This record gives sequence, C-alpha cells and structure tokens, in this order.
Amino acid sequence: MSSAVLQLLWGAVVLAAAATWALLAVRLGRTDGRGSASRTRGARSARPGPGDWGLVAAGAALLAARGGIVAALAAASVVFVQDRAWGLALSAVTAVAAVAAIALRLRVGPAFAGGAAVAAGAELMLVVVVGAPVPLWAGLAVTAAVVAATVVWAFVRLGTGRRPLAATIAAATVAVAALAAVGVGVVGRGALAQEGFQTHGHGAAPGTAAADAVAPPATPPSIPVSQLAGEPDAGAPRVSVVLRAQRQTIDLGAGAAVEAWTFGGLAGPAIVATEGDVLDVTLENVDVEAGVTAHWHGYPVPAAADGVAGVTQDAVRPGESFRTAFTLTRPGTYWYHTHQRGSEGVVRGLYGTLVVQPAGGQAEDVDVVLPVHTFGRTVVLGDSAGEQRTTAREGQSVRVRLINTDQQPQRFTVAGAPFRVLALDGADVETHEARDAAVEVPAGGRVDIGFRMPQAAVAVRAAASGTAAMVFATGDSPAPAAAAKDGRAFDPLTDVTASAPPDAATAAAIARAAASGGFDVDETYALDRLPRVVGGVPQYAYTVNGAVYPFVPSTVVGEGDVVRLTVVNRGFETHPMHPHGHTVRVLAVDGAAPASPLWLDTFDVGPGEVWEVAFVADNPGIWMDHCHNLEHAALGMVMHIAYRGVSTPFAHGGPAGNAPE
Ligand code: C2O
Ligand code: CU
Repeated sequence: MSSAVLQLLWGAVVLAAAATWALLAVRLGRTDGRGSASRTRGARSARPGPGDWGLVAAGAALLAARGGIVAALAAASVVFVQDRAWGLALSAVTAVAAVAAIALRLRVGPAFAGGAAVAAGAELMLVVVVGAPVPLWAGLAVTAAVVAATVVWAFVRLGTGRRPLAATIAAATVAVAALAAVGVGVVGRGALAQEGFQTHGHGAAPGTAAADAVAPPATPPSIPVSQLAGEPDAGAPRVSVVLRAQRQTIDLGAGAAVEAWTFGGLAGPAIVATEGDVLDVTLENVDVEAGVTAHWHGYPVPAAADGVAGVTQDAVRPGESFRTAFTLTRPGTYWYHTHQRGSEGVVRGLYGTLVVQPAGGQAEDVDVVLPVHTFGRTVVLGDSAGEQRTTAREGQSVRVRLINTDQQPQRFTVAGAPFRVLALDGADVETHEARDAAVEVPAGGRVDIGFRMPQAAVAVRAAASGTAAMVFATGDSPAPAAAAKDGRAFDPLTDVTASAPPDAATAAAIARAAASGGFDVDETYALDRLPRVVGGVPQYAYTVNGAVYPFVPSTVVGEGDVVRLTVVNRGFETHPMHPHGHTVRVLAVDGAAPASPLWLDTFDVGPGEVWEVAFVADNPGIWMDHCHNLEHAALGMVMHIAYRGVSTPFAHGGPAGNAPE
C-alpha cells in the first residue's frame, strides 16, 4: 500500500477511535447517572454492560490498527510518523488508563474514556494542524490539553455524579480551548517574526545575512550575492538579447485571445546560442506593474544572474532595466521566466525558451522547441493553440524539445514514428526506442525527444489539448491519428539506460558519498498541507517542515559539500521540486534507485513519495529551492539553499515590492 493510501486510512481509523471512546464515555456516564450505585457517595461505578465492553474492544482494535499503520509508514520515512507517534503514545496511555478504570469500576471510568476520545482528537490535530516535525512546545502543550481535559472531567464527575452532562461540557471546553490555543500558536508561527527571508539554517550558520546582524566580530565578512556575477569570457562570441516585459493582447490561434504579460510576444524571444557563447541580456520592464525579473530555469548561472527578486536582485519596476551576462557553459534545453510574483507573472506569459547547442553545432537536421503553456483553458504549444507544421523530409533526424511552463505535469503523445528520449532537463540520456508511448514532463521540466522522419507525417500533440499539435511533414501530407494519451508514459526511473552527468568530478563525489553514506549535509524536507499564516493572511498553506516562506530555515552548505536532500511528500498533490543553480542526481525514489543515474533540476514528488537526491555545492550563492507549481510556491512552499559566507543585500518586500513567489 502506498504511503498516501496509508495516511488516508490512518485518518479514518483515528476518527473512528475518537468516536468509539466518546460513545463509551457517554454510555458509561449515562448508566452511572441513572444507576443506583452512583447515588451512594464513594460507591463504585455501575457495572459496564456487554455493549460497553464491545466499545472497549473496538477502541483497542483501532489503537492496534493505528500502531500497524504507523509502523508501515515509519518504514517509508520517519517524517510520516513524527507527529503520529507522539499522538499514538498519548492515545495508548489514555486508553490503558480508561480500560483499567472501567474494569475496576472506578467512578472516573467515564472521564478516562472521555480522555481517550480527546487524545484521539489530539492525535488528529497533531497531524492536520501541527505537522511534522512537531515542535517540542506544541507536543507538550497538546499533551497538557489532553491531561487537563481528563482531570476536569474526572473532578466534575466525582462531585456531580448525577450530572454527567456538566462533566462532559466542562472537559470538552477545556480540551477545545487548550487545543485551539496550540493551534493558533502553530498556525501563526512565523507570522510575528520579522519580515524578510531567513538565511539562518539549522544550527550555526556563521556568515549568513541573518547571522551577521548579531555575529561576533570574529565572523569573516560575507560576500553579497550580487557580487557573485562570474566573469563572462571577454573573447567569446556574444549573444545579445533584449527582453521587453509588457502587457499584450495575444491571438492564440484556434479563435482564442488572451490578455497576456510577455517578454515580447508569446513565449518571448526564443534564445538559441552555442556552448561557450556569452549570453548578454537586457531586461526592460515596459509596463508590468507587478515588476519582473529573468530567471534561467535549470541553468548553472552565477548567483547574481539568478533573477530572484528579494534574493539576488530587486524586482525591475516599469521603466527600469536590468542587465546581466554569463557564459553558457552547458548545452541543452532550458527556459527562462520571471521570478517576481511568479505565480501570476509566469502564468500570464512571462517566459521564454533557451536552447544551447553543443560546441560542435546543432546535431539534428530539424530542431524544434515546443514550450507548452496553458492560458485559462487554452493549451498553447509554442505560440499557437492550433495545428502547426514543420517541414521535414523522409530520412531526416528530428529533435523536439518539450518544455513544460505550466503548474501541472503535461503529457505529450507522438504519432507516426517510433522515438527516443534524448535528454532530460538538458542532460543527455540514452533510452530504448518507444512506440505509441506518451511522454510526461514535470512542471518546469524538459524532455527532448528524437525520431527519424518516415515517409508519412509525424505529429507531436499536447494530450491536454484537442487541437495543439506540431506536425512534421513534407508538403501537406495529412497528420496521423493521435496516439493513445492514457497509455504507458516513458518513465525516467526505469527507462533510461545511460546518462551524462554534468561533469565527471561531480558524479564521482556523489558516488563516493552515496557509497559511504558520508554526506556533508543531510537535510530532510517534509512537504505538507497545513493551516498557516502566509503574508499575514490565514491560508490552507503548502508547508516545508511545518513552516511557510519566508520562514522556512535555509539549508546551509559550504562550497564543495556533497549534499543529500530527502523530500517526503505528506500531501496528496504532486510537488515538482526545483533547486536553483544545481543539478541533482536522483539517488532513490521510495527506497529504489533509478535504473540508471538520473540528473535533473526539476522532479515530481508524487503523493506519499520519498525522493532522495544529491548534489555537489559547486556554485556559491543563495539559491531558491521550491515547488514549481507556482500556486503552491505562493502559498508557502519555498526555501533556500544558502552558502555559508554569502549574504544578500536584498529583502522580501521592501520598496521594490520583492515577492519572488
Ligand atoms: Cu523555474 Cu525558481 O524557478
Ligand atoms: Cu507543490
């Protein structure tokens, strides 16, 4: 059973347990209130009937079931059970106390059964409000609430044996008030902290911006991220690009038009350059009030060029511009997009494509870039929602670079020719030939596919659209019928037979650390959905380790560190995780290693999945690491990987209104 299903099952069991104990408490209280025994001071409680013992048995069985589920979840990751284990211990203790009191016919029996019900409620609360990891104070406070409710129940009962209702109401009030107080504290966590992004990580992080403010004078001075601009090769050919951010009404073809924000036309200027070139970019903001930046998704740029508002630069306001230049050190398929109010700006169209051809030049006869984007309900491939054509003759080699600029995974189908996947996130891979298979691209991810032109036409279609297609053909030969879109999709975890690492030294360092378990930094992220205050507003937020941006502690690394990140998805949605500035190697998914090493910069962590990835910290800076479903990012799922000794002169908010998410 998957961890996602186990978590759902756990929820059902804990609710049933709370109901069982509550029912038992009420029944015992009632018999007692009516029974003659309770009228005599100091006498024992009424004898429990078979129905009561049935409820006790049910409560015990549900407790055992929870124990089993928690053990199974713990085998997948301790992150699934930190909160559940605490709650389970609380429930177990209260259940034992209740059963003992009932068996001994103590007059506090019903109160203790009520305590077990409150404990089951607290168990649920630890999971749906507090989340893992449970802060010590929250765990203790929840425990105190359960104890307090039980004690109040018992006291009121002992004094007013004939009024079980009064006891129940008093205890319930205490429990609800205490748990609500814990809830408010947890939900508001970070809301009262100073606005600004947190560079202090777990433990000491000397040299980071936040630490510097209070650092003893001995701390070495930190380098502002804006100075980490690299040195673009002066003698290299320069590719100059101007990105003009503007509001535009755009005709999407197939009868749809949209009020978009673009970098100058739909899907921006398509940048094509060659490895070794210097990309010289001037970003001008014509009239996008929200502000803009240009972030180079997946590309190993120097930190100052990363384009994250509030971290590596200020947002570029209307009338302003920002220039950056960096050497293109790696071939492959990439894209760029705004990283200021991304959840609005990217969705509205502030994105474009970046293709870096290998030093030897274009390898295929025909090379097409196909970014997919959804405007409202219209799915656009490249710059059209309709059918487009590219001329390709029989025998020619074709490469199609699929780029998902959306929030959700996108499926593509290929009809008319067998194909191979040639690259994932810009890195070359070898795979078997596929026929009638779909290709799925994570939000933010890229998949290059290649095929040899047959005599008839070939069509690449976006499965989410009935119309958007790229047809490869000579003349007007008819497009082939669409391939089945719900068939098996290419699976990078099993279908890659060989892959190219970003460089040999990186691959060797990670292999060494993986073999010995000797990672310099080992960090775990629990991704969850919890109520939290985001930007001053209470939200059903997307959290990392129970916190929301900008209050998630950064992962602090030193240059040269080999870093392992374990990402645990406790939620029921897919999170396309994307660390900036680095390529990660996937070590394992749910404990199983991929068939061949996989190098990615964006990976879909499905519901209940546990991904272990590793990278070498070889690009100093302060790098965002976030969910590329930008709606999730806007609701909190953002953090940073911060190099020790690097600070930022920029801040979240401020006069430029920096809001990268
Ligand atoms: Cu594609 Cu942080 O971005
Ligand atoms: Cu997400």
